[in-house]
Amino acid sequence: MPRKLIAGNWKMNCLKADGVALARDLGVRYSGEADPVFDMLVCPPAQIIDAVGAAIAGSGVVLGGQDCHRERKGAFTGDVAAPMLADLGCSHVIVGHSERRQYHGEIDLLVSEKAKAVHEAGMTAIICIGETEAERDAGQALAVCSRQIAGSVPEGSSAENTVIAYEPVWAIGTGRTPTADDVAEVHAHIRAELSRMLADPDDVQILYGGSVKASNAEELMSVANVDGALVGGASLKADDFWAIAKACS
Ligand code: PGA
Repeated sequence: MPRKLIAGNWKMNCLKADGVALARDLGVRYSGEADPVFDMLVCPPAQIIDAVGAAIAGSGVVLGGQDCHRERKGAFTGDVAAPMLADLGCSHVIVGHSERRQYHGEIDLLVSEKAKAVHEAGMTAIICIGETEAERDAGQALAVCSRQIAGSVPEGSSAENTVIAYEPVWAIGTGRTPTADDVAEVHAHIRAELSRMLADPDDVQILYGGSVKASNAEELMSVANVDGALVGGASLKADDFWAIAKACS
């Protein structure tokens, strides 16, 4: 079974001082664990990654980006390239988050190209997939995940460089979550889809994301094929994020 990964997606939150304080707090807690059974990842906004990296240095907490460009460098004003994130010490980069798909028109092919750029920069891509509410109501949840996996997971992917995050769009930031049975069904389906594409499907971490909080983490993290969480809102408070991580133990 893959090791659990608890990932915090800070989104467009935290000025530098707040981010550094949050990261330092988490670093102290994580490094105080004798033998943590989970990996802890924080993904701050790009402009404070460097400062957050310094705050968690030596703690065991790892660093990630929230997005990157598909190209390695060039005339792309305002964008961030994967090698730049690697240069700051990132080990992971989130790609294809539903907010990128929705607000920036990102399609599966672009997500796949971004994941490839992450791989080529020596990092792990956290590839996000998940259905909208209308798609779930229409009985399309599994088909949407299949389509997004087929389109967004590039060649050369393996458990070494790829994490899948299942994030039903209707559960993100809404306080609503699927039932444990629904999560189990989708995660088993994702594992089966990966087994048709990858050599080591059983080792790939499949995260659940969407309104994970301290009160539901234990139930969600104990579902079969759930190898951790991608947490938005609740990752902005050290107590809440830490309680979610401890729910894995
Ligand atoms: P949420 O966001 O935990 O605030 O629902 C999750 C995400 O978007 O990754």
